[in-house]
Parts: sequence; C-alpha cells; structure tokens
Amino acid sequence: MGLGIKAKLTLLYATILGIGLVIFGWFLYFSLYRTLLYTTDERLRVVAEIMVRTPLGSQAFDLPQDFDLIFDRFFGIRTSGKLIQIIDPSGRVRLRSSSLKGLSIPFSEEAYKNGLKGLMTYETIEPVGGYPLRVMTYPVIDRGRLLYLLQVGSSIEGVRDTLGNLLFFLYLSIPMAIILSGLAGWLIATRALRPVEEMADAARRITAENLSERIEIKGQDEIGMLAETFNDMIARLEASFDRIKRFTADASHELRTPLTILKGEVEVALKMERTVEGLRKVLMSNLEEIDRLSKIVNDLLLLARMESNREEFRFSEVSLDELIEERYMQMRTFALDKGVKMEMERKDGVKVKGDPAKLKQLFLNLMDNAIKYTPPGGRVHVSVGREDGFAVVTVSDTGIGIPQKDLPHIFDRFYRVERAGREGGSGLGLSICKLIVEAHGGRIDVESRQGRGSTFRVFLPIS
Ligand SMILES: Nc1ncnc2c1ncn2[C@@H]1O[C@H](COP(=O)(O)OP(=O)(O)O)[C@@H](O)[C@H]1O
Ligand SMILES: [Mg+2]
Repeated sequence: MGLGIKAKLTLLYATILGIGLVIFGWFLYFSLYRTLLYTTDERLRVVAEIMVRTPLGSQAFDLPQDFDLIFDRFFGIRTSGKLIQIIDPSGRVRLRSSSLKGLSIPFSEEAYKNGLKGLMTYETIEPVGGYPLRVMTYPVIDRGRLLYLLQVGSSIEGVRDTLGNLLFFLYLSIPMAIILSGLAGWLIATRALRPVEEMADAARRITAENLSERIEIKGQDEIGMLAETFNDMIARLEASFDRIKRFTADASHELRTPLTILKGEVEVALKMERTVEGLRKVLMSNLEEIDRLSKIVNDLLLLARMESNREEFRFSEVSLDELIEERYMQMRTFALDKGVKMEMERKDGVKVKGDPAKLKQLFLNLMDNAIKYTPPGGRVHVSVGREDGFAVVTVSDTGIGIPQKDLPHIFDRFYRVERAGREGGSGLGLSICKLIVEAHGGRIDVESRQGRGSTFRVFLPIS
C-alpha cells in the first residue's frame, strides 16, 4: 500500500505552503533590501547636493579640517553620521571630515573613472574588520572641467542588521509554519475522512447474514452520497438474496410434494397390493408423478441456464408466422380432444431475429395454458401480426380467467392462482415465457377477466 490519502493530502498541502512561503520570503527580503539601500542612497545624494550648492563651491580645497562641524553648526546641513571626503582630479585625497577620524574612505577604480567622466557612482564597500559602507562619489564640474570628487559615505550596518533579522525570522518561521500547517492539515484530513472509516467499518460488519443493516447517512456531501450508493447496493443485494432464498424454498417445496406422493403410493403398494393389475395402477400413478417431477426439474434447468448464460440463445432469422402455425397445428388436436375449439389468423412474412427452439417453447407454454384453463366448449384464438415495428402474437381464450389480485404475480416463479385440485403445472411456465421474451428484446402483457377469458400478447422486434 502506498501513502494513505491523509498523508498525501498533508504532504501536498505542506509542500504548496512551503513553496509559497519561500517565494514570499525571498520577495520580502529583496524588496526590503532594495528599499533600504535606495533610502540610504537618497540621503547620501541630498547631502552631497546641498554641500555642492552651498558654501563649498569651488574652494573646497581651502576648507578647514573640521568643515563638517562648521557645516552642521553654521549652515544647518545635517552631516552627522556621514563620512565626507574630497578628492582632486588626480585622485589624491585632499580633505576628510572629522568623522573619518584620520582614516580615508576606500574607493574603487571604477568610481574614480566614472567621476572623470562626470558620472555619479554608488557602491557598497566592505572594509576588512569594519562596518559595511555605502559610498557615493559625486563629481563637481565647472564649465566642463572636473574640479573635484565629493564622496559621501554612511555606514549601512543598520540595513545589514535589519536584513539579518528578517532572514533569521524567515529561517525560523517558515519551517514552523510548515510544521504547524501540516499538523493542522493532518487533523482536518482525519476529520474529513472519519466518515469514510466509519463506512468501511459498517461495510465490514455487513455480511450475507445481516444484509438488512445499513450505513448511517450523515449530511448530503460526497461522503453522504457514497453512503447512499453503498446502501442502495446492499438493498439490491438483499433483494436478490431474498429472491434466491425464496426460490430455493419454493423449488424444494415443489419437488417434495410429488416425492411424498410417490413414497406414499409405493409404501402402500408394498404393504397391500398383491395383484398384478393393482400394481400396474400404482405404477401408472407413479409415472405421472415422475413426469411431473421431471417437468419441474427440466423447467428449473432451463431457467437457470437462460439466466446465467446469454449464449444459451442461438439467434437466427425466424419466420414467426410459420413457427406459430406449426405450434398451432400441434396443439389443435390436443385442444379438440378436450372439446376446445382453436383457430388461427396470420399475416405472412413476419420475421424476427430469435432462437427458434426458445420461441417454440414460449408459444407452446402460452397455448398450453390457454387450452388448460379453458373448459370444454370454449375457444382459443391465436394470431400473428405487425404493429409499429413489432411482431405481435396474441393468444386469447374464453376460459376461466385470472383474478385481478393475481395478475401482477403470474409471471413470478412458482406462482399459481390458488384453485381447487392439482390442475396446472408448477407455475414456472410463464416465468420462462417472460425470460425468453426479454432475451429477445421484447415484452409480454396480459389482460384477463375472471370467468370471461384471458389474452396474452407478445411483442418481438421485427428484424
Ligand atoms: N390462459 C390462462 N387462463 C387462466 N389462467 C391462466 C392462464 N395462463 C396462466 N394462468 C394462471 O397463471 C398461473 C401461472 O401460469 P404458469 O406460469 O404457466 O404456471 P402453470 O404451470 O400453472 O401453468 C397459472 O397457475 C394459472 O392460474
Ligand atoms: Mg403453464
């Protein structure tokens, strides 16, 4: 298993925050650095310009050594804290402010060259063991001639300290912020994912034995939707489990009845019957029950095969009208024997894509029911036709009909209308019909009135 969702979320969150903070810190550092330096440079420039424009003039070289004090005191030029130095065009230091205390401001070749060309230079100088200095070199020019270079410098120790503090603060606070937010992210993810864990627990508790359990749904968010989907799935599973249970119970019950009868008959015969004729009667009766049993088993097998395996169906082009006429001919004698009149009406050339064997079974079942549930003297009518893209087969009878309350169930497995006697089959016939029709992409419906008769209609897509 890789990293869990929680760890992934937290990591992602912390990484994004970390990158953001580093970029922000970098930006902050450099903009502060530039602002501070710019402010310093501005101050240096102001001092230099005031000095040049006032008494200094062109007689700079004749000033006394402590000229800065004089400037400060008599002219109100704030030079305190500034280091000032005057250099003649040949590069010799001619005058130093008293604040320099006898030292001189180091200055670069570049500043000197720029000065000769009449350009200002700002530079940062880091004397070994001393404070970093910001120095401005200002050329004083009179009618195209360089008179001297005025240098004004100032310690930028404060700037350095401020930036150092900022850096220290960033080094300390960024990792702290990442750790804290990672922790917070972890907590949030844990809280957000708790319902998922609860769902997993609930899902684990649900087994075949307690499919009626459900997951508690809290809220209408994505997690709630997931829980709902999950509950729906469990409900469907429960329904299909129930169906299987009921089916198994019904099937066993259905098989037990003929077996009980068989057993009883055989036991009695063994005890009582001595004549060949008597035994023969018993065996005939046995055979009936065995037929019934094997019909049920065959039907069950067919249902199971059709349900589990689509390849059970072998589709080909089928002439529906011919197929039904053959079934009709086959059933008619059977109906006549019972005293039921049977008739047929057909349109030619009704073709469908279907499995001929399954279709035969379908219409045999319907006609069988119609004849079976129609008393002598009644009529069974079969027709084949077409109706908006569908082949329609109708099997109607004038028989006993189906009670309204039973109508919705007659296509269920083992469902039989409660009537006196053991007439009829096992109740699988119509469920087989329904499965066959649906496998062909069609539908089946029924209309019936008790005592009047029933009409079954099958719709199959025309090929
Ligand atoms: N044409 C019909 N007329 C009256 N009742 C019918 C007809 N067809 C089906 N039924 C009723 O529907 C029930 C289910 O039919 P089916 O699945 O074929 O079972 P069965 O094996 O009893 O024929 C039957 O028990 C019967 O009561
Ligand atoms: Mg039947």
